[in-house]
Amino acid sequence: MKNTSEVTIDLMDKADLPQILAIERQSFPSPWTAGMFTRELESSHSVCLTARINIKGKSVIGAYIIFWLVADEAHLHNLAVKKEFRRQGLAFGLMEVMKEIAGKNAITAQTLEVRESNLEAIKLYQKCGFVVEGIRPLYYAETHEDALIMWADVKK
Ligand SMILES: CC(C)(COP(=O)(O)OP(=O)(O)OC[C@H]1O[C@@H](n2cnc3c(N)ncnc32)[C@H](O)[C@@H]1OP(=O)(O)O)[C@@H](O)C(=O)NCCC(=O)NCCS
Repeated sequence: MKNTSEVTIDLMDKADLPQILAIERQSFPSPWTAGMFTRELESSHSVCLTARINIKGKSVIGAYIIFWLVADEAHLHNLAVKKEFRRQGLAFGLMEVMKEIAGKNAITAQTLEVRESNLEAIKLYQKCGFVVEGIRPLYYAETHEDALIMWADVKK
């Protein structure tokens, strides 16, 4: 996080779910449920990480990322930052960790889908080297929105 070294990246744990669900609910129009997070935690190809922030000796979850490592691809499935910690580099830092882990697992490409109206996230992904390579029409059924499909090489 900018201006502080009080962030640690850890594996997500079931005990983190109450804090994560609260961030999820403030971040998405159709938030994941506890069951969806639990399935990811139990999946062998899913990597679930949290960014914890130490505030006066107390550790709170500021952000989390979930991605799959399948064949030669890393596929981003979830990324959110608690509102009060946004614009401080947490998401960028987690994306860098995804790329690092992908590289260590001989993964060559990263991909994701993003809501076409989510300009903050699109800017983040562009900063991380992703480019739009396709569209999934009406991928987000609840808001009748298309998804942009973005890709990045792991080496970029
Ligand atoms: C999108 C989101 C993950 C960004 O998290 P963040 O920690 O605030 O992002 P960072 O501070 O790491 O920002 C990295 C870059 O992303 C872009 N960015 C992030 N938030 C932005 C905003 N509100 N406006 C414009 N650009 C933004 C900028 O390019 C920024 O780089 P800069 O600070 O050098 O300008 C966060 O806003 C969020 O949780 N949103 C709700 C959930 C969501 O949309 N998740 C993505 C689903 S695909």
